[in-house]
Amino acid sequence: MSNTVVVGLQWGDEGKGKVTDLLAQRADVVVRYQGGNNAGHTVVVGGQTLKLHLIPSGVLHPGVLCLMGDGMVVDPLVLCREIDDLEANGISTAELRISGNAHVIMPYHIRMDEAQERARGAAKIGTTQRGIGPAYCDKTARLPHSIRVWDLLDRERLTERAQAQLELKNQCFRHLFDAEPMTLEEVIEPVLAVVPRIADRVVDGRALLYRKLDEGADILFEGAQGTFLDLDHGTYPHVTSSHPISAGACVSAGLGPGAIDCVIGVAKAYTTRVGAGVFVTEQDNEYGNTIRERGHEYGTTTGRPRRCGWLDCVVLRTAARINGTHAIALTLLDVLDTFASVPVCVAYDLDGERLEYVPSNQEDLGRCRPVYEELAGWQQPIGACRTWEELPDNARRYIDRVGGLAGVPVGLVGVGADRDQTISLPAFERARGR
Ligand code: IMP
Repeated sequence: MSNTVVVGLQWGDEGKGKVTDLLAQRADVVVRYQGGNNAGHTVVVGGQTLKLHLIPSGVLHPGVLCLMGDGMVVDPLVLCREIDDLEANGISTAELRISGNAHVIMPYHIRMDEAQERARGAAKIGTTQRGIGPAYCDKTARLPHSIRVWDLLDRERLTERAQAQLELKNQCFRHLFDAEPMTLEEVIEPVLAVVPRIADRVVDGRALLYRKLDEGADILFEGAQGTFLDLDHGTYPHVTSSHPISAGACVSAGLGPGAIDCVIGVAKAYTTRVGAGVFVTEQDNEYGNTIRERGHEYGTTTGRPRRCGWLDCVVLRTAARINGTHAIALTLLDVLDTFASVPVCVAYDLDGERLEYVPSNQEDLGRCRPVYEELAGWQQPIGACRTWEELPDNARRYIDRVGGLAGVPVGLVGVGADRDQTISLPAFERARGR
């Protein structure tokens, strides 16, 4: 029995879907532990591109039980569309379960997300406008009429709660945000229409996981977003409203930290972020444009061009500690194939002081300047490499140096989008065998 967490070490979009997909082959249960349809996992299988927003990537493996965990926020309309898309592509969703304790994104949360972003003006976060923040806000507000997935199962209770919530939301729309109020009908009808399609999948997530663990199951916990979008440890306020870090898996599942055997941290061979916020190694220039075009760095969920920059090993070193990472999966290395030299950020300079870790004071972080080390590029395509030996020397040096700077060895290397374009290194098996 071995329980593994897959976590993003940067600002999301690190290629966690591909790594989860790979690890799911050996898992009995895959749990998505936080977030909602702000996430977008692209998985390429046999040339076919599949986009997942809510459903754990384990769904691509027949027989693997997939749980949308307590820590998620679930938009039932999006969920049904995603189930339809998968089924239309011949992928069964029969093993998909939804934790009753997850909170529900209602249509007024989406309007609230849009209204709040408008109100923030120049200080906007650049949210995905999927209602994520407002849904988590209702969760932490602990109102008697907050809506959890359990509440979808009782039509009367759901309607009562939606009405009570809507009264509050409409007050805000009218008086704070200059936004159109909503009617109960437009809020509740679309949700009620899809409830019968998901009702049978609703479970006590914690009880299900305890049962599976008692049976000796291997559980894979799939995070969404990334460490620096974490509500506490990220670049606040430009963060998401949940806890993507590995500890978030324990909170969501109802398990102690000792239940986690292995943490695989996923990082791109460079850095991207979407939306506003500090980005020390950003390259708003030709280098960044090349990375964006070669890496197809446009959001899976919103289509927005991602901000691109060099690999920040200060970020990786800090994230490795936050998550208790055992091995790094370094993805999209092939995107760097054309560069003659590839700088990596080895430390920050804060007013003349050298920092090894990301400072948690955002004012300080805003003043940090990158200290780069130039590594030689390999300037040849690596997409066909399947072993360490087949990689060019300079690519191997890059990988080794990244592991050394992060303080955690690289265990997997991604050299292309397809499932089989992955090189497994000894550090990966060592981490998995823990
Ligand atoms: P929210 O999660 O929609 O509230 O957005 C908050 C911040 O997190 C914004 O900067 C988003 O661009 C970012 N974000 C949310 N989900 C993802 C993701 O899956 N990948 C990358 N950025 C994300």
